[in-house]
Amino acid sequence: MDFKGQIVWITGASSGLGEALAIALAHRGCRLILTARRTELLNALKNKLPFPDRVGLLPFDLQQTAQLPALVQNAWDVFGGLDTVFLNAGLGQWGTVQETTRAVEEKIFAVNYHAPVALTKALLPLFRQQKHGHIVAITSMAGRFGQSHLAAYSASKAALEVYMESTREEVYSSSIQVQWVIPGNIQTDIMKTALTAQGQALNRDALAQAKGMKPQVMAEKIIAFAQTNGRKKNIGGLELLALPLHHCLPRLFYFLLRKRHGTH
Ligand SMILES: NC(=O)c1ccc[n+]([C@@H]2O[C@H](COP(=O)([O-])OP(=O)(O)OC[C@H]3O[C@@H](n4cnc5c(N)ncnc54)[C@H](OP(=O)(O)O)[C@@H]3O)[C@@H](O)[C@H]2O)c1
Repeated sequence: MDFKGQIVWITGASSGLGEALAIALAHRGCRLILTARRTELLNALKNKLPFPDRVGLLPFDLQQTAQLPALVQNAWDVFGGLDTVFLNAGLGQWGTVQETTRAVEEKIFAVNYHAPVALTKALLPLFRQQKHGHIVAITSMAGRFGQSHLAAYSASKAALEVYMESTREEVYSSSIQVQWVIPGNIQTDIMKTALTAQGQALNRDALAQAKGMKPQVMAEKIIAFAQTNGRKKNIGGLELLALPLHHCLPRLFYFLLRKRHGTH
């Protein structure tokens, strides 16, 4: 399966990984629909892509969950169908369980879980009618284990992963494909816009992200994976060792994590 000529919708396209996916897919000859809240960034991105006339912008706040079925129809109508949808938009967190307000946790779940779920539900009947369709969800290594200050973020990504796995099972014998990618650290500003316990932007550089994979490299690896029949893929650097370590030696894993966070 080749992306050339495909109609691709990317959520969270205004920065970071979504922007890198948009650039990589535009160079492969895709027609793109780009969604995020920051319209000025979407416009700037559109203007630097090789064929701006092949790009539709659909600015939207994905927290407006009730309007997501209409958003899907709008995305569908831009070019008269959708071949692949990257459910990439995400919202970070930095706050303890005790201090983080319920409103903050609801926002994180709205963007990271309820939005991709609602988009998936609305896409499936259209894909069935069209007789093909492809969803690639972006979860996170942080959804694979609990860690301090990231409870809601990790829980939302864990929930999304299991939801996508269930969806894949339901469409398995059809011509609809569902995959998900579990990135390690990516060099993006996710921890600048991450919500603090009280809902402000954290506005901080994070060491993990600074040392992470460049979004352009991550985007290329995700596109390569999306051209296979694979179910899911962990993509990252040495930080991915956390996954087997957490599974096989959880005491050692948390000892090392606490040392790293200076809480040991
Ligand atoms: N960076 C990492 O280390 C890392 C690791 C694992 C997984 N991930 C995942 O990778 C994905 C991309 O994140 P990133 O690292 O590229 O961070 P990013 O640069 O902050 O990108 C997040 C994107 O999501 C969009 N978004 C956030 N809230 C939204 C809302 N309410 N409505 C619509 N769009 C919204 C943002 O656009 P607007 O602000 O313009 O709306 C932005 O385009 C996320 O799902 C993230 O969880 C990141």
